[in-house]
Amino acid sequence: MKEKTFIIAIDGYSSCGKSTLAKTLAVKLGFTFIDTGAMYRAVTLYFLKNEVDFEDKEALERALAEIDIHIQNKDGENRLFLNGKDVSVDIRQMYVSDRVSEVSALKEVREAMVRQQRELGERTNIVMDGRDIGTVVFPHADLKIFMTASPEVRTQRRYEELLQKGEKISLEEVAVNLKHRDNIDTTREVSPLKKAEDAVFLDNSKMSREEQLDFVLDLVKERM
Ligand code: DC
Repeated sequence: MKEKTFIIAIDGYSSCGKSTLAKTLAVKLGFTFIDTGAMYRAVTLYFLKNEVDFEDKEALERALAEIDIHIQNKDGENRLFLNGKDVSVDIRQMYVSDRVSEVSALKEVREAMVRQQRELGERTNIVMDGRDIGTVVFPHADLKIFMTASPEVRTQRRYEELLQKGEKISLEEVAVNLKHRDNIDTTREVSPLKKAEDAVFLDNSKMSREEQLDFVLDLVKERM
């Protein structure tokens, strides 16, 4: 019989360090890390590049059937391939960030992504981060974390990340984008961002990366 996999679900607001924590945790535990936000970004990139009118349900379904997403997980890093092409850098650009909440609010898109995410969790031990992992994708995850940080801290973190990547953007623009995404992510009809009842709350506004990792590793030890 197939052994049951161990699943760690990390949900929370944009830019509060979910992926950073998930990645280091996965490396430490020898688990596979899956960044589900990247999957929604890849779909958004495809829609924008191919000018898919996602208000048109038929066009939307047709486009979804054409999309093949493959995630390569190496040393905790995710490389995302969209129809065979590595788009890991492209999906982080601002024009994708500006539209991704809209695209990820579409029922058809969510169904397609959730299906793939569940398949990944059946195969191997994983740390998966996103918005609905503990509530929808894996309601029976072995450990659920709900992360947040103050809006100021999140804005500053995202701003520095984008500057490092060479994006020309102001702090104000980043703040507006984050607020806009928080709003859509928490109020959308399908799978809105919310804490699962049994998730452990983690506000990392004043925590170092090491402190966050130790906090979660203690929880993992308890549950393994
Ligand atoms: O984690 P991120 O900022 O890269 O995610 C990009 C967008 O995708 C975010 O605005 C919300 C959406 N998302 C989602 O709806 N469900 C997930 N499981 C992951 C991300």
